[in-house]
Amino acid sequence: MNKQIDADTNSPQTAPHLSDIQTLRDRARQHISAGAVTPSYDANREIVLKLLNEALATELVCVLRYRRHYYMADGVLAEAVKKEFLEHSQEEQEHADLIAERIIQLGGEPNFDPTGLASRSHAEYKAGVSLEDMIVEDLVAERVAIESYREMVEYIGRHDSSTRRILEKILAVEEEHAEEMASCLKGVHALSRTPGFAAKPAEG
Ligand SMILES: [Fe+2]
Ligand SMILES: [Fe+2]
Repeated sequence: MNKQIDADTNSPQTAPHLSDIQTLRDRARQHISAGAVTPSYDANREIVLKLLNEALATELVCVLRYRRHYYMADGVLAEAVKKEFLEHSQEEQEHADLIAERIIQLGGEPNFDPTGLASRSHAEYKAGVSLEDMIVEDLVAERVAIESYREMVEYIGRHDSSTRRILEKILAVEEEHAEEMASCLKGVHALSRTPGFAAKPAEG
């Protein structure tokens, strides 16, 4: 027998559904091969997996773009920025791992196929020529990622709270990345306006 309890009002009419212990235990034993996906999974799994694979492609493209920028950034202005490029590249890899892990939990397959990676990704791979170009491209990519994660969080809503929490956690880091790229850009602009300072452009 199922009980309905409302955490806020205790009103059975407005309560979200809560199952009793035996029902939960019985349901968990059904379809064991589905792993973490139990009968109460409320989202459209196919769509969630598609979105997660697009997010995975986005993260992998961001790893590669930041790595390139880390190695290519050159000149006096580049020193502090290089550190950010490397750190962001490592954090994008952590995001890719979190997403791949969630895809497995949902019974899907993470797509690491390099063929079509750039077109599956929301953000673009832009090599960048000068240090300023690189920072601008990274900032644009972060803004794309922020928009797409926000949309995914909204789409998933309360239908799959574990996936939503992972996406929210990643979104918060992408917001930090965007803020850091914006402040690097300001710093580079300010320094390059210093009289007598000639920034050496990186070769792209
Ligand atoms: Fe990321
Ligand atoms: Fe990022």
